Amino acid sequence: MIQFTNVSKRFSRDGQSFLAAQNINLDIKQGEFITVIGPSGCGKSTVLNMCAGLMKPNGGEIYYRGKQVEKINTQVGYMTQKDNLLPWRTVKANIEIGLEIQGKGAKERERESSKFIEMVGLKGFEKHYPQELSGGMRKRVSLAKILAYNPETLLMDEPFGALDAQLRLILQDKLLEIWKNTKKTIIFVTHDLEEAITLGDRVAVFSKRPGTIKAIYDVDLPRPRDTFNVRYTDEFKTIQTRLWDALKEEFIEEGNVG
Ligand SMILES: Nc1ncnc2c1ncn2[C@@H]1O[C@H](COP(=O)(O)OP(=O)(O)OP(=O)(O)O)[C@@H](O)[C@H]1O
Ligand SMILES: [Mg+2]
Repeated sequence: MIQFTNVSKRFSRDGQSFLAAQNINLDIKQGEFITVIGPSGCGKSTVLNMCAGLMKPNGGEIYYRGKQVEKINTQVGYMTQKDNLLPWRTVKANIEIGLEIQGKGAKERERESSKFIEMVGLKGFEKHYPQELSGGMRKRVSLAKILAYNPETLLMDEPFGALDAQLRLILQDKLLEIWKNTKKTIIFVTHDLEEAITLGDRVAVFSKRPGTIKAIYDVDLPRPRDTFNVRYTDEFKTIQTRLWDALKEEFIEEGNVG
């Protein structure tokens, strides 16, 4: 479904250029849920930006369904790290943007937006504007927006980062249910190792900048997974220890830990 071959990305600043990501090789199957974890600044968002066609790699190629991504990739829905809600639209109108673009009628838009407003716990806030919401509420609007848009592939950049632990577990559970029912392909970036394991079929661990994929781990935990309790199983703890061993090296070298 999505293929990265030797992808690298370079940025320039003050006449100097630096590599943000290098040698990214990754094959993602249709219907797969892949999670991505790695230190801050290692290029995770950059990789999603390239996959969405918002920026071009300097080396290598990205293919989506066998076609090289060279412009904005309209087959993916992208929930960016920083929400990009339109300030002049209400919560409901923001969520319905994708449905409007798809030419859906008012009734269907209403049905879909209310379904997802309810799912993310924002009932009663339909007429609020983004600037009247908290950070976590804005994130939830962005989540409802991408789910209402209903693309075949979801790129999600720390979608639950600003949420409290309880709500995060509830929304993880809802996302897994939607994924199971709709067979979407999902690339999900997170800073939370437990979240990466709870959700993913595989976890890609990035090295520190210039980010590359250090290792990819299969998560052989049975599904459906109970997002509230799966972390307490021995199988989970075994995977968590293996992954943390790989991940912590990236932080120790950065001088962040230990
Ligand atoms: N548009 C841009 N122009 C210049 N530099 C950029 C741009 N986007 C990202 N960078 C740089 O590329 C590097 C990787 O950034 P990126 O946002 O991909 O990291 P990340 O892994 O998503 O980090 P975080 O976990 O903190 O979100 C950083 O050094 C960042 O400053
Ligand atoms: Mg990022």
